[in-house]
Amino acid sequence: MQIRIFETKEEIAAAAADVYAGLLAKKPDAVLGFATGASPLPTYAELIRRCEAGAISFKDVKTFNLDEYCGLPADDENSYRTFMFRNLFSQIDIRPENAHLLDGNAPDEEAEARRYDRMIEEAGGVDLQLLGIGTNGHIGFNEPGESFTKSTFVVQLAESTIRSNSIYFKDGNMPTSAVTMGIGSIFAARKIILIATGEKKAEAIRKTVCGDITPRCPASILQLHPDTVLLLDKAAAALLGEEERSRV
Ligand code: GLP
Repeated sequence: MQIRIFETKEEIAAAAADVYAGLLAKKPDAVLGFATGASPLPTYAELIRRCEAGAISFKDVKTFNLDEYCGLPADDENSYRTFMFRNLFSQIDIRPENAHLLDGNAPDEEAEARRYDRMIEEAGGVDLQLLGIGTNGHIGFNEPGESFTKSTFVVQLAESTIRSNSIYFKDGNMPTSAVTMGIGSIFAARKIILIATGEKKAEAIRKTVCGDITPRCPASILQLHPDTVLLLDKAAAALLGEEERSRV
């Protein structure tokens, strides 16, 4: 696990965008795994800027988002579909039909999960997966639990997640379940970037990097991944020791 610590969110965004640029130069039809939340937003802004400047192109990529709330209309203000089209897809040259998100309203959730796993497999697997992290160490919506999850599944959200994410639901009606790629699906990505900023993430980052590898901190599995880089600001890295900080 590589760890890089930056002064500003903009520096993190530039470092992340450099990874995309490097990959897309080699593989213009790469398969990209995207994430929602505040953490990736500066990176998305930087990808948009570079795309507008003609430095990178997404015209041949396929994307798969990590997760989606259950029970929200697809065009709801708070759906992850809305988030992704608003903050990235509508502003880059991706073909909309190549931007895949889970359907949180599928009548048969199990069939929807299998359909998604199959599509990722048929696309050749994810080349580069972007992740944020929950304050409880979740990635995607893989909440702390007794065992690591494998493929896409429907999850009941943890109390801590509902507390953290309810700020976005102004009417107070935050869904309590979601459909998410499993830890196995995330781990299968050939390269992973995890972005964390702010002191609220410091404890989750400490457990991810220095704690036991345990489903009680789902992101800790990344210690075993062959090509994961953590892009952190100083606040998120505050509880790491000297040895971890020098892992560049
Ligand atoms: C949600 C998403 C996660 C994301 C997390 C953190 O729970 N399912 O993928 O990492 O929020 O969000 P933020 O970056 O806003 O702290």
